Amino acid sequence: MSIRDKLSGPLGFGTAPLGNMFRAIPEEEAMATVDAVWDQGVRYFDTAPLYGSGLAEIRLGAALARHPRDQYVLSTKVGRLVLDEVEDVSARDLGEKAGVFEHGRPNKMVNDYSADATLRSIEGSLERLQTDRLDIVWVHDIAQDFYGDEWLEYFNQARTGAFRVLTRLREEGVIKAWGLGVNKVEPCELTLQLDEARPDGFLLAGRYTLLDHERALQRLMPEALAQQVDIVVGGPYSSGVLAGGSHFEYQPASSQIMAKVERIKTLAQRFGVSIKAAALQFSLANPAVAAVIPGASRPGRIAEDVAALKERIPLAFWQALREEGLVAAHAPLPLV
Ligand SMILES: NC(=O)c1ccc[n+]([C@@H]2O[C@H](COP(=O)([O-])OP(=O)(O)OC[C@H]3O[C@@H](n4cnc5c(N)ncnc54)[C@H](OP(=O)(O)O)[C@@H]3O)[C@@H](O)[C@H]2O)c1
Repeated sequence: MSIRDKLSGPLGFGTAPLGNMFRAIPEEEAMATVDAVWDQGVRYFDTAPLYGSGLAEIRLGAALARHPRDQYVLSTKVGRLVLDEVEDVSARDLGEKAGVFEHGRPNKMVNDYSADATLRSIEGSLERLQTDRLDIVWVHDIAQDFYGDEWLEYFNQARTGAFRVLTRLREEGVIKAWGLGVNKVEPCELTLQLDEARPDGFLLAGRYTLLDHERALQRLMPEALAQQVDIVVGGPYSSGVLAGGSHFEYQPASSQIMAKVERIKTLAQRFGVSIKAAALQFSLANPAVAAVIPGASRPGRIAEDVAALKERIPLAFWQALREEGLVAAHAPLPLV
């Protein structure tokens, strides 16, 4: 069964913000956000040890403990082991994403994609999530944005470690699916070329959005479709700027990006379209995409996401977007 078939719909929820991304989120607000997701009927939750050094997993686990386990799909990630030992959070090396989780837990994290660390990471996640099983496991961030030129070494460690363990766990029925969870196209393309690894999908963040999709369109999306590897689009609002926020790629958005967003917004307003609807529906229009998983740290956002998915967008809007060169000429547009 594909990842698409395992999900009850095209909308999931990403919990990176619940790891105190950008700000310290009060406990009640975090819980109320997960409750809002549940109340809106969304049943796919993505998390990771990285998100606040286990904080997002702990919060998600506490909120989901009230619900029967077979009623939702859960994904988390491997590659960062959360230790009991604490460290100076501000001194953490998170590559281009420096400072993003400075309000998270102070627990030290170790980058390790070996077989042994993969199993230990899963054990830690199960404990924090208060569950006995994971549905999907993503190998997290084996890419240049975190590891610079060393990324291929990490990729190789994962290829001979995490990939093999996750393949075995899938064969044994312990997990249902695995793949990569990355902000870059290159590791996904590389994985698709391997004979020995058969991932079920990729959580591709920020690379198939209204603001950035050209690179993925060239090779990854057609190849993923051909190999029946489902794409889950993470960061569909480009980390906030497409939804009314001020972040792009987890940093304050540049004036150039803001100007592009303004052009899209102006066009959207002309056709009475909300920019959130345009963002989510654009990502979902590619046939390789199985789901979008916007993140949020405020309960009110979830009803907006659900409404954005249902909104009827006139074909003329998409045509205008294409004519003004705001999306790639060959990007699939939603059928109206
Ligand atoms: N490498 C990977 O595997 C990877 C990388 C990135 C993301 N992901 C996954 O994808 C998920 C989604 O990505 P994301 O959460 O980083 O970014 P996103 O979904 O692109 O954007 C989420 C942000 O949009 C903001 N937002 C939503 N509605 C808004 C509104 N009406 N006005 C202003 N701001 C608004 C939210 O703010 P509030 O917090 O204030 O609600 C939140 O910070 C993640 O949570 C994670 O699960 C995976």
